[in-house]
Amino acid sequence: MAEIKKISFDIVVYDALVDLAEHDRKLIEMSVEARANAYAPYSNFQVGAAVLLRNGEIVIGSNQENASYPSGLCAERVAVFQAGAKFPGITIEAIAITASSKDYQVSEPAAPCGNCRQSIFEYEFKQEKPIKILMMGAQGKIIQCNSIADILPLGFNNTYLK
Ligand code: THU
Repeated sequence: MAEIKKISFDIVVYDALVDLAEHDRKLIEMSVEARANAYAPYSNFQVGAAVLLRNGEIVIGSNQENASYPSGLCAERVAVFQAGAKFPGITIEAIAITASSKDYQVSEPAAPCGNCRQSIFEYEFKQEKPIKILMMGAQGKIIQCNSIADILPLGFNNTYLK
């Protein structure tokens, strides 16, 4: 016996920043500011992330590259790890991610890489509350996912370790 099951999820696509609620717009703007401090001399691809916590704090991150390429870290993980270190146990409400390039116009929203999805999922699974993901390129349309688990289907979590 075999059964085909479909996994699907909703996203929200906004045409422009003006269409977002004030607090979401602010979070995106913080990630745009954060990406100015990206250290990306090898890829020229600058990513900013801004993490909104339930206590109202916003923690930012940007990608930090390294001459030994795998030693660098993505913006999202710089931000969520910093949030975990600075505000342990405080629920993460949302993460905004934006990207730009020194070489071309990034017009599509910047989706988090697989490693970052897994890292964010760890916190979502622990807090038992979805983390909203807002993504934008350099500017333009914004995609919202309502949970990181949506874009990491069948994700690995700590129940497998027990
Ligand atoms: N990068 C991020 O910061 N976040 C992602 O989710 C994808 C990629 C960074 C890593 C590297 O510094 C540059 O973008 C090019 O891959």
